[in-house]
Amino acid sequence: MAERKKILCVGLVCLDIISVVEEYPEEDTDTRCVSQRWQRGGNASNSCTVLSLLGAPCAFMGSLAAGPVADFILEDFQKFGIDVSLVSEHAQCVSPASVVISNIHTGSRTILHMNRDLPDVTAQDFSRIDLAQFKWIHWEGRNAGEQVKMIQQVETFNAQRPDQRIGISVEIEKPREPLYELFPCGDVVFVSKDVARHFGFDSPEAALKGLYPRVKKGAVLICAWAEKGADALGPDGLLLHSDAFPPETLVDTLGAGDTFNAGVLHTLSNGGSVQDALTFGCRVAGRKCGFHGYDGIREK
Ligand code: ADP
Ligand code: FRU
Repeated sequence: MAERKKILCVGLVCLDIISVVEEYPEEDTDTRCVSQRWQRGGNASNSCTVLSLLGAPCAFMGSLAAGPVADFILEDFQKFGIDVSLVSEHAQCVSPASVVISNIHTGSRTILHMNRDLPDVTAQDFSRIDLAQFKWIHWEGRNAGEQVKMIQQVETFNAQRPDQRIGISVEIEKPREPLYELFPCGDVVFVSKDVARHFGFDSPEAALKGLYPRVKKGAVLICAWAEKGADALGPDGLLLHSDAFPPETLVDTLGAGDTFNAGVLHTLSNGGSVQDALTFGCRVAGRKCGFHGYDGIREK
């Protein structure tokens, strides 16, 4: 039997050093935590974790430094069966890391992130890969200029091999001007509530209507909004919505957005409808908020 085609996520992997607290600390105090752990993090890396827990073959493309942190990260990718053959190593660089304060009572996550010198993958790195192994490629918006060129390569592939068309999605999460170049690039565009608010929109409906003119013809724009769930707008002009699925107890929202994206990609790349993708994304992300980390997502 032919090997199942994979979903590729391009973006960041970093170390998350997570301290779980009963109460958010005051500045200049000395707090005892409920627990502490290391976790592999980064949006694209987290989405791969969830895809693999959902049973979807997937690959991660990004940069990695060398040393014990990089070893921890690689081992963890392997534990989840995520293909890391497209990871480029930069032995002289420092691994990016986040210190995360996770409040067990509210589920809030406060992130302090640092990336000193690790470069992102380039369009040249991307040009070396065999695209035929993928059915969908997702970009976490980072070095947008290079990412636009990578997407053009996929569009060329799609024009030459329409029978093997690869789905294209991009995530615009940070309110940074250069990332907005990605709006017209994806078949599916995820825009965060942070970016929406930055543009002055105070609801997902308003954001989708206001930002839709920026996407390419025929694209779907998706906006997740924490406990309000998520909305989508496609070329037919119909606004789709899914409520959130709050867990019994809200414990940990770190990576909820990455989990939502993975749920959406899983559904769409299997030919599901946008409404089904929204609902499944919210269902999986809601479930994730009920426990620490991602392991509990595994379908029983
Ligand atoms: P992030 O801040 O990680 O980017 P979002 O706020 O965009 O995440 O939320 C992504 C999805 O996760 C939402 O659409 C929702 O389905 C789920 N989610 C996030 N926070 C909550 C919450 N407090 N209760 C229920 N679901 C949530
Ligand atoms: C969660 C996350 C963390 C990482 C941070 C980087 O969405 O990917 O795993 O530390 O965001 O901004």
